[in-house]
Amino acid sequence: MKKILLAAGILVGLVCPCLLTHAAEAPVPSAENGMITAEEWEETFPEIVASYNANAANSYRISYLDTDPYLKNIYEGYGFAKDYTSAVGHSYCLEDVYKTERPHALANCLTCKTADFTKMVNDLGEEVYSYDFEELYGSMVQSVGCYSCHENKELEEENLAVTHSYITLALGEEYDGIDPSILTCGQCHIEYYFDPETKATRMPHSDIASMGPEATLAFYDEMGFADWTQESTGARMLKAQHPELETYLSGSFHANMGLTCADCHMGKSISETGTEYVNHTWRSPLEDAGLLQYCAQCHKDTDMAQKVHAIQAEITTAEKELGMKLSDLKDGLAAAVASGKNTEEQLDEVRSLYRSAQWYWDYCYVENAEGAHNSAFARDCLAKSEELIDQAMDKLGVLEV
Ligand code: HEC
Ligand code: HEC
Ligand code: HEC
Ligand code: HEC
Repeated sequence: MKKILLAAGILVGLVCPCLLTHAAEAPVPSAENGMITAEEWEETFPEIVASYNANAANSYRISYLDTDPYLKNIYEGYGFAKDYTSAVGHSYCLEDVYKTERPHALANCLTCKTADFTKMVNDLGEEVYSYDFEELYGSMVQSVGCYSCHENKELEEENLAVTHSYITLALGEEYDGIDPSILTCGQCHIEYYFDPETKATRMPHSDIASMGPEATLAFYDEMGFADWTQESTGARMLKAQHPELETYLSGSFHANMGLTCADCHMGKSISETGTEYVNHTWRSPLEDAGLLQYCAQCHKDTDMAQKVHAIQAEITTAEKELGMKLSDLKDGLAAAVASGKNTEEQLDEVRSLYRSAQWYWDYCYVENAEGAHNSAFARDCLAKSEELIDQAMDKLGVLEV
């Protein structure tokens, strides 16, 4: 096999000498779309591919609609009121997006679920975002794949690539200096929106400074963007999506010290035969002895599970209390709308505060580390939300129901 590859490399090299070294290293893709698959890398990197396949073991999930029933009220009229479960391993992205009961009319829903779609956007251009979901789904094979973070590059050494074009479009070729071991994750673990006209996936920020709930809300307000209009309140609502990148980069202790997502979620492992490799099972650091050792380099003998769980308990309790308060605000607003006794101007004032309060709350709720990435940031989001809920309640108090 190697010999054939080498021969192919020399042939290509004769035509274009610059390609010689690269073509000799990467397997020749057999898929029609020209993407090198995990299976094709297996011969070269058996340990890495085995660890990648092990993502399938991360399949335990809960339904947030069961644990937090008030969500159905807050998200009324939107897909997340129908189906909203916790995240699982990368092996499941593709099948999960198909199975979800949330509507997925267009192919843009595949943006963060499959490397095949990423390659299709890169090869055919942005119009594929508006293709029919059902039509394209059948031709998608890989979930998050090697291509997602390495393109089809030679992988002799660490060779990361940002393949999701909307990231480059938003941040520019220099990516505002964000380390590739952070940004390759941030391609998907990030807030995004679909352009109302072209349906293309877009980022609401242009650098690190414009990340975070405040700047993003201002951005959406300015463009008059809403994810949906809620029928009972008439409010034009926003839905935040897993802003791990923004939460992490907004002044967290670890980001300030230069740690990357890969440092805590991947790390190095040693195979049975003694080979050291970068572990590609993306998991909680609390579930891996090697990663816990890494934490201990700085946290010494601190019980890390205890440290992490204490923060998460504080944040999730605050989220629940505030979520119920938000749900009460929504009921109050819906009643004020239904009574027909208030002017649109009066209602709009409350609607606008409700939209913003929901946004700040959601930004914290949907972040997957539940405060562990940046507890100060999580507390700030919730405090801001509560302030807005209180202001809205005051205004609601003088309306007629
Ligand atoms: C979600 C992103 C992502 C995917 C998908 C991914 N990798 Fe990686 N890979 C990384 C990151 C990040 C690093 C560097 C880790 C670090 O910074 O320590 C890396 C490092 C590597 C390295 C360098 C190892 C070394 O010793 O320097 C190889 C080889 C590699 N990956 C192969 C693969 C293969 C093969 C696949 C598919 C089975 C794959 N990767 C899928 C993110 C990814
Ligand atoms: C191509 C998009 C994509 C990229 C790139 C990506 N992820 Fe993910 N990741 C997802 C999606 C989507 C899920 C949720 C899958 C599901 O629930 O079906 C997920 C799930 C996870 C989970 C499991 C969550 C849980 O609760 O068990 C971890 C951990 C994770 N990602 C970490 C990372 C890290 C670290 C990187 C970078 C090295 C990365 N991801 C890069 C899309 C991506
Ligand atoms: C200092 C270590 C550290 C860094 C750096 C870090 N994380 Fe995490 N991450 C954690 C911890 C701790 C949790 C909570 C794990 C748990 O609940 O068991 C977590 C949880 C997660 C989860 C949910 C997975 C789960 O099993 O609960 C995802 C997804 C995730 N991180 C992605 C990222 C991304 C993307 C980055 C970079 C932008 C990143 N993390 C940077 C430590 C880190
Ligand atoms: C390079 C040193 C270093 C490494 C490695 C490191 N941390 Fe930290 N971490 C710190 C420092 C310093 C702080 C701030 C003081 C404190 O809370 O202990 C911190 C804070 C934290 C916090 C509180 C964050 C917050 O926003 O409140 C958590 C949780 C945490 N670390 C978890 C981890 C986990 C889990 C790992 C391993 C996967 C890890 N850390 C690896 C240095 C490190």
